[in-house]
Amino acid sequence: MKTLITAGGHGTRLRPITHTQNKHLIPIANKKMLAYALEYSKNAGISEAGIIINSGDTSISDAFGNGESFGLKITYIEQSAPLGLGHVVKIAEPFIGKEPFIFYLGDNILVGGVNKFIEDFRSNRSNCHLVLSKVPDPNRFGVADVKDGRIIGIEEKPDNPKSNLAVTGIYLYDNHIFEAVNNIAPSARGELEISDAHQYLLDKGYIVSFSEITGWWKDTGKPSDLLEANRLVLDNIKDNRMGTIDSSSIVSGRVVLGKNSKIINSNVRGPAIIGDNVVIDNAYIGPYSAIGNGCTILNSEIEYSILMNDCKISNISRRIEASLLGNDVHMLRTKSKPATHRFILGDQSRVEID
Ligand code: G1P
Repeated sequence: MKTLITAGGHGTRLRPITHTQNKHLIPIANKKMLAYALEYSKNAGISEAGIIINSGDTSISDAFGNGESFGLKITYIEQSAPLGLGHVVKIAEPFIGKEPFIFYLGDNILVGGVNKFIEDFRSNRSNCHLVLSKVPDPNRFGVADVKDGRIIGIEEKPDNPKSNLAVTGIYLYDNHIFEAVNNIAPSARGELEISDAHQYLLDKGYIVSFSEITGWWKDTGKPSDLLEANRLVLDNIKDNRMGTIDSSSIVSGRVVLGKNSKIINSNVRGPAIIGDNVVIDNAYIGPYSAIGNGCTILNSEIEYSILMNDCKISNISRRIEASLLGNDVHMLRTKSKPATHRFILGDQSRVEID
């Protein structure tokens, strides 16, 4: 079995972060989003991964190389234009060959890996195995119509969903999926919809089985999704304190503290992860915070937020909460007069102040 993972798209709802980096490289609990899909694939005994990238994007291969550090052999496959997930599968056929494979949307984060779904796919001897999850807003997803324990229909982003069972971005296929993607027509938005390929398989009488995710799953389209995914992953971390904590600091709960990092006269309340070479001085770091490498947090408070690498936060009087900061972001209280707000913000930055 091989794995096919998507890492393309434009991440428009995650701007400005995605102006300068591929969404799939955004850290969730200080680990690049795509690394979760790679690790789950490896843990399922897979040794070859194909990653679909936008044409000309070298950032993903710069980050993951030939896959050696994950114990995987990675092949990068360029998609010339965003023509849909059905198109992604179509162009991957030469890489996949005749093998069954897992198709994994790289922006889907879930707890517990994918082994169970692979087992279900095999034991059902399915042509296609879908992973479903109950959601409050099914019209944002592919939706399965299930009767008597069987899927009888799939619709993509329907106005009137037949159930609350979203089709998540984890799919298992045998090679009949290529017949499907080669026989469907583009949708009204000009894309080969993966849901249409699933409906094709149902119409032709192929076996389409499913598992339901009972744990946590999220597709990370918006900043609030990233913060939620970060919370989810941090909820499962183990305490590991490699840096130093001085005697006037209190560190409670499960906290990962990276190498050469220092906590001085501060209060850190886990679950939280703090990268390498970080200084936390006279500060509060609250639950569900992920602080990247090389950050300095001075006289400030942070909670339920993601800070990427090399951020500097100093003397901010209000607690920073539910925030997403890119690399090398500086937020400082000015000492000079007049006391004003001074911003240098890239396109589509968002600032909320009282
Ligand atoms: C895609 C699929 C949709 C699926 C979703 C899961 O939608 O088209 O069927 O439910 O992924 O993340 P997109 O997120 O590309 O809008």
